[in-house]
Amino acid sequence: MTATIIDGKAAATALRDELKAKVQALQAAHGRPPGLIVILVGDHPASQAYVRTKERMAAEIGIAGDILRLPADTSQAALLAEIARLNRDPAVHGILVQLPLPPQIDEAAVLLALDPAKDVDGFHPVNVGRLFSAKGAIGDDLLVPCTPYGSMVLLRRQLGDDLAGRRAVVVGRSNIVGKPMAALLLAADCTVTIAHSRTRDLPAVCRQAEILVAAVGRPEMIQGDWIAPGAVVIDVGINRIATPDGKGRLVGDVAFAAAAEVAGAITPVPGGVGPMTVACLLRNTVIAARLIEARHG
Ligand code: GUN
Repeated sequence: MTATIIDGKAAATALRDELKAKVQALQAAHGRPPGLIVILVGDHPASQAYVRTKERMAAEIGIAGDILRLPADTSQAALLAEIARLNRDPAVHGILVQLPLPPQIDEAAVLLALDPAKDVDGFHPVNVGRLFSAKGAIGDDLLVPCTPYGSMVLLRRQLGDDLAGRRAVVVGRSNIVGKPMAALLLAADCTVTIAHSRTRDLPAVCRQAEILVAAVGRPEMIQGDWIAPGAVVIDVGINRIATPDGKGRLVGDVAFAAAAEVAGAITPVPGGVGPMTVACLLRNTVIAARLIEARHG
């Protein structure tokens, strides 16, 4: 193996340590900690695990985190009423609605109902628009989707702050990862291609990349010979595959062992982008709290 393994766990720990001091400062200045509510509708098994991690990590740095669990048959009107209540609650600075939602609920309507100032996922159309309008360094005044932001932190740790002119390929065009990732790379002056399931000759497109971001949700789809020698590979996928012992195993969207023979650096799964996503959610909660409390004076 030749690639450097990018340690997302260490980067996430460093970010959480920085945030801890900011949480204490906010608590001291305003008499209450940043407050985060995660709304979980139904009992999607992966979502259950994710929201518990979010709650535990929030508590560790002093954020007042809580999970609002609603039954799987919750109506859209009932969910919108909860969101309206949380929008008005001055102790709540961040609201995250865990996706996917059950089929009776219109995801777009729910995201639109969030107060953009409390939208710590960065999924409200106002925050999406701000991201796509941004140029240069994305600062501390914008709520940016957590997984792409965390991926940029890892990229910069590896390549330095100046990414201008780099050829970046993002595989995947989701609203949660692919599109906002492309926006962040573009704001950093990369030359960006968004590839997807209808892209012709995907291996050849990937081979152009100095920065390759895989966010397709297909286990080990991206092969070693799709990767340019020395490329930096960010693997956003978290896929559970069956193993003979029945326990299953987590793998990314990239065939890790083969990719690590070619790439310059690569994120592992688990322990790469995953921990950064949660740390960036906490970062957004701290940003939201600072901006909202400043508004109150
Ligand atoms: N489901 C999978 N990823 C995410 C995410 O980043 N935010 C929310 N709210 N739901 C998700």
